[in-house]
Amino acid sequence: MSNNLLKGKRGIITGALNSASIAWKVAEKAHEQGAIFTLTNAPVAMRMGEMKTLAAATKSEIIAADATSIEDLTILFQKSQEILGGKIDFVLHSIGMSPNVRKNLPYTDLNYEYFQKSIDISALSFHKMLSVAMKMDALSEWGSVVALSYIAAQKTFPFYNDMADAKAILESIARSFGYHYGKKKNVRVNTISQSPTKTTAGSGIKGFDYLYDFANAFSPLGNASAESCADFCIVMFSDLTKMITMQNIFHDGGYSSTGVSMEVMEKFKS
Ligand SMILES: NC(=O)c1ccc[n+]([C@@H]2O[C@H](COP(=O)([O-])OP(=O)(O)OC[C@H]3O[C@@H](n4cnc5c(N)ncnc54)[C@H](O)[C@@H]3O)[C@@H](O)[C@H]2O)c1
Repeated sequence: MSNNLLKGKRGIITGALNSASIAWKVAEKAHEQGAIFTLTNAPVAMRMGEMKTLAAATKSEIIAADATSIEDLTILFQKSQEILGGKIDFVLHSIGMSPNVRKNLPYTDLNYEYFQKSIDISALSFHKMLSVAMKMDALSEWGSVVALSYIAAQKTFPFYNDMADAKAILESIARSFGYHYGKKKNVRVNTISQSPTKTTAGSGIKGFDYLYDFANAFSPLGNASAESCADFCIVMFSDLTKMITMQNIFHDGGYSSTGVSMEVMEKFKS
């Protein structure tokens, strides 16, 4: 159902790798709500992913960009404005990757080159995007920028590895850059802290299936799906949330405020 919440808005959506990706659902819903946007992903993901299907369904163009490259990001903002015909109203940062997680290295014995890559791809890319956009004056007044995070930024989830540190930096960047962009152009910058979600990135985390089931049993509303996360992103991009900035907002079915759930307690009954 469309309420045309994003009618007339132009956006950039990163990170739609396949139909399980959270960004994929955001693109579908943004299209449904009247937005026009470009899709972007790392050049390597173009070969693996199914982005062309999404581009056709949402009538959008794809621009390859490695989110760690200032040069690529500059071209991304330039081309997006040309294609869409004006400044950008919303940006979704839906990017995460840790070589340490991929190689299964323990948190206590990380490869530091990989660690830097995790931080660069999963957190600094957010700063780079905002910085490039600000220098080019590519975002509209009252524009909205959202990045996706996870509660391991606040609490320890041992298997989440160096991604926990990356998410802590990501959320901090939303606060710090949000101040400057807010003062300069009323642009709002937020992170959404999402439940475990069955996607390529999510499933790469060790023990993800157990984590998913645990979180589902722990949250009074159950895990938030990728679809409901996309709904929330749409609201954050819309004019209905103009005064929300520099926040990390939990979208997790109540997980973050729960001390214990009866379902989890049941498992320890002798
Ligand atoms: N799946 C979960 O359980 C979960 C929970 C909370 C937050 N998140 C976050 O949501 C976001 C989206 O992940 P997802 O779960 O939809 O998985 P996904 O694997 O579908 O998306 C991750 C995306 O990051 C892209 N990417 C990696 N390196 C890149 C680079 N250098 N430049 C540009 N793009 C690059 C990948 O190609 C991919 O499209 C991530 O930030 C992730 O950490 C996921």
